[in-house]
Amino acid sequence: MTEHDFRPNIYDTTLEKGSVTWESPSNIALVKYWGKKKDQIPENPSISFTLNHCKTITTLEFTKKGDHNHFEFEVYLDGEKKDDFKPKIQTFFERIEVYLPFLKQYQFIIKTENTFPHSSGIASSASGMSALALCLMSVEKQLIKSDVIVGAVEDGINEVYFNQKASFLARLGSGSACRSIEGDLIVWGKTKSIEGSTDLFGIKYPYKVHENFKGFQDTILLVDKGEKQVSSTVGHNLMHNHPYAQNRFEQAHQNIENLKDILELGDLKAFNALVESEALTLHAMMLTSMPYFILMKPNTLEIINKIWEFREKTGLHISFTLDAGANVHVLYPKRESQEILQFIESELVDFCQNGHYICDQIGFGAELINIE
Ligand code: DP6
Repeated sequence: MTEHDFRPNIYDTTLEKGSVTWESPSNIALVKYWGKKKDQIPENPSISFTLNHCKTITTLEFTKKGDHNHFEFEVYLDGEKKDDFKPKIQTFFERIEVYLPFLKQYQFIIKTENTFPHSSGIASSASGMSALALCLMSVEKQLIKSDVIVGAVEDGINEVYFNQKASFLARLGSGSACRSIEGDLIVWGKTKSIEGSTDLFGIKYPYKVHENFKGFQDTILLVDKGEKQVSSTVGHNLMHNHPYAQNRFEQAHQNIENLKDILELGDLKAFNALVESEALTLHAMMLTSMPYFILMKPNTLEIINKIWEFREKTGLHISFTLDAGANVHVLYPKRESQEILQFIESELVDFCQNGHYICDQIGFGAELINIE
């Protein structure tokens, strides 16, 4: 597939107005995306677990308008008008217009809400951008009859094409968003060990996954709920001219290859070592960039040390990963949840801001909630 396959050749149906609602989850990367080229092409491949409870629910209302020369939209978060969200969506629309040429023909109202608090320090860009991309795909689908050839696909917009294009569009909004359309394990970025992998969109991990990873748990410890200290755009840019960038990009390919055996064999010990090393490498890239940043907080380190002590003492398979912030994602297999959750509640929650944490687990992707 190339970008070209996502340009529709014909809209043969008229649609005056309508409304569509999608619910789309967040995801947590095991091998991290950090560094990008032009047009949201990642410098290295990444792989993530799709989450189940941390979601954005977006309703897109659309009405045909007279002129076709500008984008017209309003954005609401939890019922409140959010003009500060508009520039990001304007940029998104500009990037995707060539793939969705109907955008200037409609006036849109975007109503969005998250199942997690907006000020939790959990990025809503993955779930938010994927939900919006899916809503737009549902509009496009209605504009094309099923017997029309779309891109390389002969039977109109089938499910495979729909998901691929939704992921492709979401990527243009926020890179990691392309990994939120489906589940439960998604690979984004071309790498030789994963057949079918591409820089253009996320694909479902195509190989065998051991029972140990079914229902995998992610308890998100909210150490710092403030605004991100480093925006993702600034963060990714830090990888340009970074002294360790090339090695890091190669390491990500290698880690994905190594993860294949780990996932197949259910090797939880090797899994823990790989994901923790990935998380610390992400932060090491920030520590060693110019300008440099420390995104962990003292409580992030307290939690990591407690996890290591507990793992050593009990032999349970608990590990952590981090995003570009201070919050800690605690990962563990479902069958060990009882003891590990007890440990989290008694030993780790004290390090969270206002004792807040979110229990999530591996999920299976976005869902269409309503279309009218
Ligand atoms: C650290 O997807 O937020 O979470 O493409 O600029 O929107 P943009 O970046 P974004 O970057 C996420 C980076 C990460 C690692 C990951 O999710 O792979």
